Amino acid sequence: MITETMQNAINQQIARELYSSNLYLAMAAYYSNINLNGFANWMRVQAQEEMVHALKFFDYMISRGAKPLITQINAPKTEWSSPFEAFQDSLEHEKLITAHINDLVNLSIKENDHASNIFLQYFVTEQVEEESTVLDIVTRMKMMENFPGGLYLIDNELKQRKFGA
Ligand code: FEO
Repeated sequence: MITETMQNAINQQIARELYSSNLYLAMAAYYSNINLNGFANWMRVQAQEEMVHALKFFDYMISRGAKPLITQINAPKTEWSSPFEAFQDSLEHEKLITAHINDLVNLSIKENDHASNIFLQYFVTEQVEEESTVLDIVTRMKMMENFPGGLYLIDNELKQRKFGA
């Protein structure tokens, strides 16, 4: 049986993943409204992936005989001052999520919970990938800052992202 401390920590992470999903959906709406449909597509797929993350934690709790708790989720920000600012925010958000995943891993060690530790390794790897992908896009957006049309080149590329790919 998973300890109550670990259950509480995982429940908080479920809320964070659901918040992440809502945040990326809000970013998708922002990009759609300024006609950057590739960026909007990328964020929409990201929102779906965050829901998958939430469900992975949800299913893990059930597999350990615990009850996942679904709580109120704070509303995300809905406006950004520029396309760059929104992507920069997503990078900062992913760094925050990485810190929380690291805290969960530390807790699993403290609680002597080997099963949770193994389960969490997936998210350790996933966060490296998420931060790296977002950083790559943010860096390229910055490089294209003074290049007219640069944003549309990236927008075209981001149209290709598909959920589950
Ligand atoms: Fe679920 Fe973007 O981390």
